[in-house]
Amino acid sequence: MNDFIANLPKAELHVHLEGTLEPELSFELAKKHGIELEYATVEDLLRAYDFHDLPSFLRIYYKAMSVLLDEDDFFQLTWQYLSKAAQQRVLYAEMFFDPQAHTSRGVAFETVIRGIRRAQERASLELGIDTQLILCFLRDLSAQSAMATLEESIPFKHWIVGVGLDSDEKGNPPVKFSEVFRKARQYGYRLTMHCDVNQENTLAHIHQCLHTIGVDRIDHGVNSLEDPALCATIAERGLGLTICPVSNRFVVQNLTAAEIRRMLSLGMRATVNSDDPAYFRAYVNENLQALHDEGGLTRDEIVQLVSNAFTVAWLDETRRASYVQRLQTYVDRNRAA
Ligand code: HPA
Ligand code: ZN
Repeated sequence: MNDFIANLPKAELHVHLEGTLEPELSFELAKKHGIELEYATVEDLLRAYDFHDLPSFLRIYYKAMSVLLDEDDFFQLTWQYLSKAAQQRVLYAEMFFDPQAHTSRGVAFETVIRGIRRAQERASLELGIDTQLILCFLRDLSAQSAMATLEESIPFKHWIVGVGLDSDEKGNPPVKFSEVFRKARQYGYRLTMHCDVNQENTLAHIHQCLHTIGVDRIDHGVNSLEDPALCATIAERGLGLTICPVSNRFVVQNLTAAEIRRMLSLGMRATVNSDDPAYFRAYVNENLQALHDEGGLTRDEIVQLVSNAFTVAWLDETRRASYVQRLQTYVDRNRAA
């Protein structure tokens, strides 16, 4: 099963680029910029990763970004993630980035996106991994700040497939950003939002995503299982749910394997993703492996999860069909073997 998962052609739809900042790169960039980190070694830094909920994770995540300053830093960040993803046989990735976490520190939007884009183009040519970018607004900042960021993105619209909503959900419901997302839709962006696991008012937030915002996808959304009407809407619309098992284990102490299995049985398009792999110490293969080893998911269920990711990806139908074909060929060959 280890090899089967490692070589499975796959897609990743929920990964925060800033969450792929490995400690080694943090130290390298700190040295380059003459920044003193609070920790002497990679081991010391890793020991500080003792998050137990979303706010305790986010504090460490935002603090670590201080080393990302110039275009080449964003190139390195993205290149290292894409190299790792390609090694894990990710054929296609949709990656989040958090521009406000950088513009608020005086780093220009253009610096961020040009560095990321350069790595995307090089990875497509040299590593054979294709990617698209999703701009995430930070929901604990104002709607006005999100709107300004949306407008800042427009000169680079051709490099961005959609917009999302991340950061601390408590007290920051989807409807806070109704106007921003309405405008984003007008600009032609796809829409997704985080509905993190076990958040206060989570069912109301998922309901707003579906019925007020009209999202094309939900990030996490595990609690939808508590409401049959939400499940029915998600299944009927064929909406994808980008679930991140190891991340869930960190922030809610539950791999949510039983929940993922139940979604599959209800015909909901659950997918498996890594979220912030440098922090949760698990890329997409380790997430799938954990579902098998600890959650007891079968080979067929793993394949269904990966297939769902290609089905709900924001791709044109020709490319989608070619990825689905590669997956099918792999599965058939392994069944015959
Ligand atoms: N949830 C909310 N915000 C985030 C996350 C997450 O899992 N990762 C990075 N920003
Ligand atoms: Zn996330």
